[in-house]
Amino acid sequence: ALISLRQLLDHAAEHSYGVPAFNVNNLEQMRAIMEAADKTDSPVIVQASAGARKYAGAPFLRHLILAAIEEFPHIPVVMHQDHGTSPAICQRSIQLGFSSVMMDGSLGEDGKTPTSYEYNAGVTRRVVEMAHACGVSVEGEIGCLGSLETGLAGEEDGVGAEGILDHSQMLTDPEEAARFVQDTGVDALAIAIGTSHGAYKFTRPPTDDILAIDRIKEIHARIPNTHLVMHGSSSVPQEWLQIINQYGGDIKETYGVPVEQIVEAIKHGVRKVNIDTDLRLASTGAIRRHMAEHPAEFDPRKFFKDTIVAMRDVCVDRYVAFNCAGQASKI
Ligand code: G3H
Ligand code: 13P
Ligand code: NA
Ligand code: ZN
Repeated sequence: ALISLRQLLDHAAEHSYGVPAFNVNNLEQMRAIMEAADKTDSPVIVQASAGARKYAGAPFLRHLILAAIEEFPHIPVVMHQDHGTSPAICQRSIQLGFSSVMMDGSLGEDGKTPTSYEYNAGVTRRVVEMAHACGVSVEGEIGCLGSLETGLAGEEDGVGAEGILDHSQMLTDPEEAARFVQDTGVDALAIAIGTSHGAYKFTRPPTDDILAIDRIKEIHARIPNTHLVMHGSSSVPQEWLQIINQYGGDIKETYGVPVEQIVEAIKHGVRKVNIDTDLRLASTGAIRRHMAEHPAEFDPRKFFKDTIVAMRDVCVDRYVAFNCAGQASKI
């Protein structure tokens, strides 16, 4: 059944677990997520980005998610719009039937220019008024994703700030977070702690100077009743990088957010964990391997089937690690 983000995260907070929020662009990802959720009895958050709408079109995405709900009626599903850049975009998703929207006012309508506190609080407040009138939840963001290692916003595929940020912009301030929640009434708050979107997050396994888990503890201590959201939370599995490179790929050495660090974050108020890149890497690795091993194959279903299995296994791992497994039937 379709449920709101608020309903799911309230349950997650009460029972101390986190929920992975997977981006969805196509049938294979949708099937992988639902099969993993079914297998582990986990509730689902699927999110559609601007890039996903451009690729698949909003109606296809919407029906893909509705189809998932029809096939797996026993699984609670949140249909979330990822990184909305304006109230108008959020309004369209609310009209399409999304049960949750993100108004990311930390960046301007171009999705890359950092904004003022007043701008961010203003647009987010407007979306909260609109969404709550329709029973839809809202995620806001305070602070900009970016690398504490390089000072670069560092997004290779166009989602996130562009150029150089200063250190303070990339670490959410607990006082400002508290004021933002008070001013806007958001249901969930995305915070910046040194993660960024995409595969190139860290040039070395992250230490606490570049992945600020302690900052989460400070924010949670200040606003214990706010559900926190971690973006850029792919773990960038080394085994998938190796498979990609073994079968003709060329991905440079890189590291993501270790699952154990996310588990630690979940102990301190993180309830929604955004993951896109890990499914992309698993999918790419599975396709490369299948094609290399079966050069005469020309039925795309054969290699797409492999991507479903590869992505499903990543989803199962996250559902289990975040203690989300076993919760769907209790909601
Ligand atoms: O928000 C970031 C996600 O990885 C989505 O990226 O716009 O390329 O689909 P995308
Ligand atoms: P990753 O690129 O780390 O998977 O992050 C995805 C994300 O934050 C989507 O909003
Ligand atoms: Na989001
Ligand atoms: Zn994000």
